[in-house]
Amino acid sequence: MERRRDKPVVGLDIGSTKICTLITSDKDGELQPVGFAKVGSKGLRMGAIVDLKETIKAIQQSVAEAELMAGVEIDDVFVGLGGPHIRSFNSEGAIPLATPSREITREDIRHVIENARAVALAPDREILHIIAQEFVVDDQPGIDDPLDMVGTRLKVNVHIVTSAVTAAQNVVTAVHRSGLEVADTVLEPIAAAEAVISDDERELGCVLVDIGGATTSLAIYHHGAVRHSGVLPVGSDHLTNDIAVGLHTRIPEAERLKREFGCVKAAMAGDGVTFEFSGAGARRPQETSQRVLSEILQPRAEEIIHFVRDEIRNAGYERQCGAGVVLTGGGALQTGIPELAEDLLRLPVRLGGSARFDERYDEPGFATVVGLVAYGDRRRKSDAFHEQSGSAIKRMIGRLRSAVF
Ligand SMILES: Nc1ncnc2c1ncn2[C@@H]1O[C@H](COP(=O)(O)OP(=O)(O)OP(=O)(O)O)[C@@H](O)[C@H]1O
Ligand SMILES: [Mg+2]
Repeated sequence: MERRRDKPVVGLDIGSTKICTLITSDKDGELQPVGFAKVGSKGLRMGAIVDLKETIKAIQQSVAEAELMAGVEIDDVFVGLGGPHIRSFNSEGAIPLATPSREITREDIRHVIENARAVALAPDREILHIIAQEFVVDDQPGIDDPLDMVGTRLKVNVHIVTSAVTAAQNVVTAVHRSGLEVADTVLEPIAAAEAVISDDERELGCVLVDIGGATTSLAIYHHGAVRHSGVLPVGSDHLTNDIAVGLHTRIPEAERLKREFGCVKAAMAGDGVTFEFSGAGARRPQETSQRVLSEILQPRAEEIIHFVRDEIRNAGYERQCGAGVVLTGGGALQTGIPELAEDLLRLPVRLGGSARFDERYDEPGFATVVGLVAYGDRRRKSDAFHEQSGSAIKRMIGRLRSAVF
């Protein structure tokens, strides 16, 4: 029988503008990309599937191209999940141990996690992740693994991510009908963070902001764990739309102008830079300047960044993000975005490509798919290790600290 570790680890990022498949294989313990495809996404609106048939077709095309390149057939994938239906909150679980104190067992840890999981959810919501932030034994906080420690009371602080049952189910159904199994579903900004954020940044405090086509999603890290996550219903396609409306041009032309001449910070725009474009219905090419384009783009870019600022503020992490902001997603490539974000957030901002593989995968727009395989690889390795050592509960904590169980 094929060992689980030898199976290719595959990430599938079903974005609102593109569907990426990344197939990796394990070479001497190191993950190597062997197949990759990016195809235009169809059937999604606002990060949610609205046309199952079209989405399945696009997934199949993306997977087939990556399989052809890799020369292997895949059967299960780690899938990203996003969309404004995502909600997150922090919670806790606690159990009494004994008076006087006693050693904490695996069963206690399982029990306290189950306790944290017992939150009241509306019937149309389900838990996507429960991520342990820390354990507390009696009054001692900040414990990663409380096994064998002595106490009278055990507590765990967790970050819980929930999704709409139907939206998550549609993604799983689309993957199944494409002929694949779902190894796991992962919140997209958590996957992206896996690819581009260092342990030091996680410890010191930072924000991963993924500016996609239809959505902007974020995850806040502090003391090594996720503290807040969210998905906002505005993305870089809104900038394209604003150009189409503002300059009376069609969407593909607006998209070209955005990428070639767009700068979201008017003060950075070249005063004398002018260019031609085809206006909708106009017979002759029109002319405008980069400054005019910036005046269209800046308010929308500010709206996106203000959303992010409010999320950070409302989560209470304004002063705890010393390592700053890491931008991913295709929208992060927009000229002026890092500068505008620095101005408005008053935090250092950098672009997040992943140095995990070679430069072909080092694009902010590929962070989610690279993160999905990084997550999947770690997950498989820890499963294999703990299966060997027979320690189910260690596995549970391992998954918890990093992401899921
Ligand atoms: N060089 C560029 N300059 C400006 N914008 C860009 C550039 N490259 C890509 N974009 C924009 O990035 C967006 C797509 O980003 P990305 O591929 O991360 O989205 P997605 O994952 O498909 O969407 P979502 O995460 O919202 O589901 C598009 O709006 C596109 O116009
Ligand atoms: Mg995306």
